[in-house]
Amino acid sequence: MNGNLTRRTMLLSGTASAGLAALPAVGVSAVAPDSAIRSRDSRYMNEGWRFYDGDIPMPEVRGHGWTYANAKAGNAWGAAPTNFDDSLWDEVRIPHDFVVTQPFQQDANLSQGYRRRGVAWYRRTLRFDESERGRHLELQLGAAATHATVWFNGTVVDRNFSGYNGINIDLTPFARYGQLTNSLAIRIDANAMEGWWYEGGGLYRHVKLVSRDPVHIATDGLYADPHQNAEGGWTVPVQTTVKNIAERAADIVVEVAISDGEGRVVARGQSRTTVQPLGSQMTEAVLSLGQGALWSVDTPNLYTVEARLVVDGAERDRASVKTGLRTFRFDPDTGFYLNDRPTKIHGVCVHQDHAGVGVAVPDSLWDFRVRRLKAMGCNAIRISHHAPAVELLDACDRLGMLVLNENRVFNPAPDFIGQLEWLVRRDRSRACVFLWSVFNEEPMQGTEQGYEMVRRMVAAVKALDARRAVTAAMNDGVFTPVNVSQAVDVMGFNYQQTRYDAFHAAHPDVPLISTEDTSAFQTRGAWETDLDAHVMAEDDTMAADWGATHRDAWKMIAERPFVAGAFVWTGFDYRGEPSPFDWPSASSFFGAMDLCGFPKGAFHLHRAQWVRTEPVLTLLPHWNWQGREGEPIKVMAFSNAEEVELSLNGRSLGRQVVDPYRMNSWTVPYAPGKLDAVGFVGGARVSVASVETTGESFRLRLTPDRTRLTRDGTDVTPVTVEALDRRGRPVPTANIMVRFSIEGGDIIGLGNGNPNSHEPETGDRRSLFNGLAQVLVRSSAGDARALVLRAQAEGLRPARLSIALDPGAQPPSVPPAAPVMTVEGWRMSPVSPTLPGIDWVASDSDQNSWQWLQPGSTLPAGDSDGFVIYRTTLTPWAAIQRGGGVISLGRVTSAGEVWLDGIKIADTRPGVDLTAPLPPREGERSLVLRLQAVRGRPTGLLDVVTVRPAADNSGG
Ligand code: GAL
Repeated sequence: MNGNLTRRTMLLSGTASAGLAALPAVGVSAVAPDSAIRSRDSRYMNEGWRFYDGDIPMPEVRGHGWTYANAKAGNAWGAAPTNFDDSLWDEVRIPHDFVVTQPFQQDANLSQGYRRRGVAWYRRTLRFDESERGRHLELQLGAAATHATVWFNGTVVDRNFSGYNGINIDLTPFARYGQLTNSLAIRIDANAMEGWWYEGGGLYRHVKLVSRDPVHIATDGLYADPHQNAEGGWTVPVQTTVKNIAERAADIVVEVAISDGEGRVVARGQSRTTVQPLGSQMTEAVLSLGQGALWSVDTPNLYTVEARLVVDGAERDRASVKTGLRTFRFDPDTGFYLNDRPTKIHGVCVHQDHAGVGVAVPDSLWDFRVRRLKAMGCNAIRISHHAPAVELLDACDRLGMLVLNENRVFNPAPDFIGQLEWLVRRDRSRACVFLWSVFNEEPMQGTEQGYEMVRRMVAAVKALDARRAVTAAMNDGVFTPVNVSQAVDVMGFNYQQTRYDAFHAAHPDVPLISTEDTSAFQTRGAWETDLDAHVMAEDDTMAADWGATHRDAWKMIAERPFVAGAFVWTGFDYRGEPSPFDWPSASSFFGAMDLCGFPKGAFHLHRAQWVRTEPVLTLLPHWNWQGREGEPIKVMAFSNAEEVELSLNGRSLGRQVVDPYRMNSWTVPYAPGKLDAVGFVGGARVSVASVETTGESFRLRLTPDRTRLTRDGTDVTPVTVEALDRRGRPVPTANIMVRFSIEGGDIIGLGNGNPNSHEPETGDRRSLFNGLAQVLVRSSAGDARALVLRAQAEGLRPARLSIALDPGAQPPSVPPAAPVMTVEGWRMSPVSPTLPGIDWVASDSDQNSWQWLQPGSTLPAGDSDGFVIYRTTLTPWAAIQRGGGVISLGRVTSAGEVWLDGIKIADTRPGVDLTAPLPPREGERSLVLRLQAVRGRPTGLLDVVTVRPAADNSGG
């Protein structure tokens, strides 16, 4: 990989320059003829990536020739050049989090989960068929954590300072078609941090390539804004932004259709405009729906808005967004209304990492996580404190979950306001997004500067979305003379719960929501707090100094109608921020669920507080206290009934009126057997729950979240691993190591929810923690009919799980392209009337008398008869250095010779394909052609020059 460094070093002697390889072929129109019109294709580009875990330093540029070349487009150094040898790098698949596979290290940052972050590189080769020429080619990186520099064909095409925002890059002007491959190189600096939680590192969301007509609907260029009109029907303005990279203006028509959940078109409209060459234009059609099916958290009805872009009667592009018919309203006295119905927000804050995979969360896992939250009675999430994955928002739209969508960096300067605008533009059509937040807990929140900054950021949001409210999550400064609460629509309180009343009294016209509360600590499955062992009981007794227990926090919100609702910190545990502990704890204790999504006491508590549609009754703790016979054990029932009665081994321990905030507890002297609880409403039994003393672990059990997967190589389901006793009862105290094997799929990660565990999250084994572990399995794309997962543990009966694999289309994707070493950086001498020596080179300071040439381009005609020298240097890829290779020179215009390292290796004949062996050798080689030049005719190489390993028979 340092072959390129050698090549650059040779430049100092002036023997060659780096290739100015990115120039388009001269004389080729950038516009496709009409016959080439085809609709957009958007494909995943998740395969075929090479990855290097570390930095490839940029060399120190020295000497005039190199310094001159350094300033030019197409000339990149380090691991960024077009023909850099990445063949020894790892092959990885995107989404990819390179931090989650690092070992835990005590000297690494605790906030980021004690894992090294560092710098890493990704590279990928792309091949564009000639039919792509003239189309608009856009690379879409879902996110890159944390700072990314992106080179395409050796030119920097983006520098991105956000680990959360999407990166959309127009590749078109740099793209090469046909024989020449294209190279994408991305340097990720994850040492840069944007948060105080685990952020992961790398290309952790999907990568896509979108090919569109030169006249096309812009990315995030379709915006539907449904709102109720005075007649009670729905008006849907649909704005479409169209771009044109052709050389002529385009008169366009945008035809818009809205269809309901069954695919029936319920409204149509159209608008027209003209888009200038290299211009962009928004056009609006206002559609009317009459009555429609509302979107709500219980009935998440979605509508599809599709725009067809038509030019001269032919369709050029098509795009769609999903939206919903719903109204959002905040009342300063009575809180939040969804569709004019009072809706207390039962919200949780979430980060974005899951067990086993870090932040590289597969699409189906977002769905799982949202379903887990809904099971808890949650109706809203706050994505703290950054832009979410679109797949998470898709799940929220589809399953019915409100979203408080939050911006990451508090800064109205152009770069950062751009990030906020990008977020709003991307997500503003969504049914689920009900509130924007411009920041979380900023020290400037109580100052004039903070106010001025927020004023600008709110204006930026409103310019793109006039209808939704904007908040900012303040943890102080709310009573200073000038503060941020004066610049937002809804006051967002983080903690400070004792100030709700004073704020409401002072500002009776300002709606108020708890953007963050609680911050209590629990370890899943633990009933006794042991601070030395970093274990927190899940009985809701331990909370951060700045927070409150789940029970206390909710009570303060629930009893105040003017507080629109809660956002509990947090729904799930996340890596990093292991407060109040440090090493060896590596994940947080805040979640109502652990990192796998297994419920803790807080989950059952909130379920009892929030779910009204079905009876809820859960008993904690487990009843395996062998050796503690006769000792008092606290037993808690979490219920939404009016009364609960508890009994042990058939003997009543009393009936209690349910306290809907604190819930109910009994002190029970331990005796093995069975605890039963019964819930009553109006004196009638409505619910039962029990816990039993189990026997020893006897066998394993595997339970998938979904029993069928799509055979597409991407579908993932979590599988719960438990140990059961002889009578089939889960043993809640089992902590044994379990080993797995799989057919018909892959294990992509493992977890057990123990914040203190340092077991690796990939591999084939994981221990149960308090009775549970999780394996994430992914379907294969092959012919297998079933995915079979086996589990075994010492002394226990093994388990076997079969998950049916249903046929399903694989998501369209860009096939990996084999990298080909192209020989670039050619320079051609002036015409010499006499035969020049093959050691003729331009001086290091001469940038003008020798031309830079890209073989395959149209060659300029010579102005006199004589001879020319073509020369370059190359450092063959490692395999070629070792085993030798073959140079394919393609066709040459004229008679002459080819010289390798000063030795003649071939004669050229006009128009005849030429190949020559490249004997093995380490380091850099020089390649020189001496050709006859004829006045008025071009002289040189007509094809791309490549070098392949000697044994390479791929022919491609
Ligand atoms: C808040 C902050 C969160 C998290 C939490 C822990 O102050 O907004 O990101 O750090 O504290 O209690």
